[in-house]
Amino acid sequence: MPSYRFKIKRYNPETDKKPHWEEYDVEADPTDRLLDSLNTIKWYRDGALTFRRSCAHGICGSDAMMINGHNQLACKLIMKEAQKQAGGKNMITVEPLRGFPIVKDLVVDMEGFFEKYRAMKPFLINDETPPERERLQSPAEREKFDDTTKCILCAACTTACPTFWADRQYIGPAAIVQAHRFIFDSRDEGTDERLNILGEAGGVFDCRSIYNCAETCPRGIDVTKAINEVRQTLLFH
Ligand code: FES
Repeated sequence: MPSYRFKIKRYNPETDKKPHWEEYDVEADPTDRLLDSLNTIKWYRDGALTFRRSCAHGICGSDAMMINGHNQLACKLIMKEAQKQAGGKNMITVEPLRGFPIVKDLVVDMEGFFEKYRAMKPFLINDETPPERERLQSPAEREKFDDTTKCILCAACTTACPTFWADRQYIGPAAIVQAHRFIFDSRDEGTDERLNILGEAGGVFDCRSIYNCAETCPRGIDVTKAINEVRQTLLFH
C-alpha cells in the first residue's frame, strides 16, 4: 500500500502558545477515505490528536476541515483525490477551519456560527390553524428551495469566505442558505423577520460575490445563487 505523509496543524491550549505542525506517515489504500487515515493516526499513533467526526458518510457535517488548503469533509475525500490536490505529491496538509477560535487541534469553537444560524429562525413559522391534514405544497413550490435543504451545517462555506474572515459581523453564507430555505417555502410566514436581519449591516449585502462558498460546499449547493435570490427578495419584497 502507498504511504502518505500527513502534515497536521496541532494546538493544545494547555501546553502550546500557538499552533504548530506535526507529521505522520500513514499507509493507506488510494481508495480509502482521508478520515480513515486520521483515525489510524489517532487510534494507533497519537491518541491526543483531536478532531470531530460522526457519520463518516458526508451527512452530519462534523468533520469539515481545511485539507490541502481547501475546506472539505475528511470522510468524503479519498486518498488518491487528496494526492491529486497536492499536485501528485504524497504530502497532505490538514488544518482546522479558518476564522473560528481553535479549541484543540482540528476542533474549532462553532458557537458564533450557530448563533448566526439561530438568528435566521431555522424553523417553519406559520401561526395559522393547521389544516386537518398536511399543509399542501406543489412540486414547483418545493423546487424553489430544494437546493438549500441540502445544507449539513458543516461551516465549510462560511469559513472559506474572506468577507467573513475580515468582518465578524457578517452573518455568512451558511446562515443565508438557512434563511433561503424558509423564505422560499410557500408554507412559511416568517419572511419579514428574517429579511429585517438580513437587510441590516452584517447581512446579505455584505457579501462581495467572491464565490468561495459555492466552490467549497461539499453538498454542491449553489450558495451564490441562494444569496442572490435572497438579495432580490430584499430589494423587491
Ligand atoms: S463524519 Fe459526518 S459528514 Fe463526515
